Amino acid sequence: MAPFCFLHFTDPHVPPPGGTVSGGDPAQGLAAALADAARRHGPGGASPAAFAVFTGDLVRDGEPAAYARLRGMLGGLPWPVHLLLGNHDDRDAFSDAFPAEPLDDAGFVQKALQTPAGLCLMLDTLAPGRLEGELCARRLAWLAARLAESAGPVLLFLHHPPLPVGIPFMDQIALRDADALWATLEPHRARVRHIFHGHLHRPIAGSWRGMPISSLRGTAFAVALDQQPGEAVVSRTEAPCYALARVLDGDVVVHTVELPGANPPAAAP
Ligand SMILES: [Fe+2]
Repeated sequence: MAPFCFLHFTDPHVPPPGGTVSGGDPAQGLAAALADAARRHGPGGASPAAFAVFTGDLVRDGEPAAYARLRGMLGGLPWPVHLLLGNHDDRDAFSDAFPAEPLDDAGFVQKALQTPAGLCLMLDTLAPGRLEGELCARRLAWLAARLAESAGPVLLFLHHPPLPVGIPFMDQIALRDADALWATLEPHRARVRHIFHGHLHRPIAGSWRGMPISSLRGTAFAVALDQQPGEAVVSRTEAPCYALARVLDGDVVVHTVELPGANPPAAAP
């Protein structure tokens, strides 16, 4: 059986045209990543990807002009694109810009995608006006229903990590409903092959309550690993990255692709 491959992008933080984040334009990192991925993993490449998934913080601060810019950047890509929301997103502005993106019955940007690698479940952890992530009863009911009606492997996607990682500021703004998420997943834990998330702006790999989990630095900027409580230290000196996930015979491998030089150093702190 041929491997099933897909691309993981996260946290592009695209600003409106002419806008900046931490002194630079994160769209440059996204553009470089998309071009690299299209060259390596488009149709006919050595590892063609079936789709690309973005785990949230799509734009700088929910601006309609930023979503319009992102929509232009994502047009013409050689794969279907699946977009999740993060704390920097705005659900209404997103839906206005991407009206074809489905909503669940409660109006959340949640999607189930059956693939040869298993059932991909994409969650909406946005809590408007808050930095931390939320999975309310309605969103978890959607997840529970999708799990109950399915069998076989599951890949889970969400913006906010459900576990602390040792970076004080990021741990304060992680997923606040991790225990409720666990209660929903626990009966199906053996089926959860991998959890892909964003939000951290750091590449990590590990496990959460026995389930494999990974994230990426993303294409905008990096969060510093070593920082003290109360600090929120951002770096734009680390290279943007994306990942190629490769699933074969139920095994999941995540390759990180670094793009050194794709983002110029910040002009100002
Ligand atoms: Fe982010």
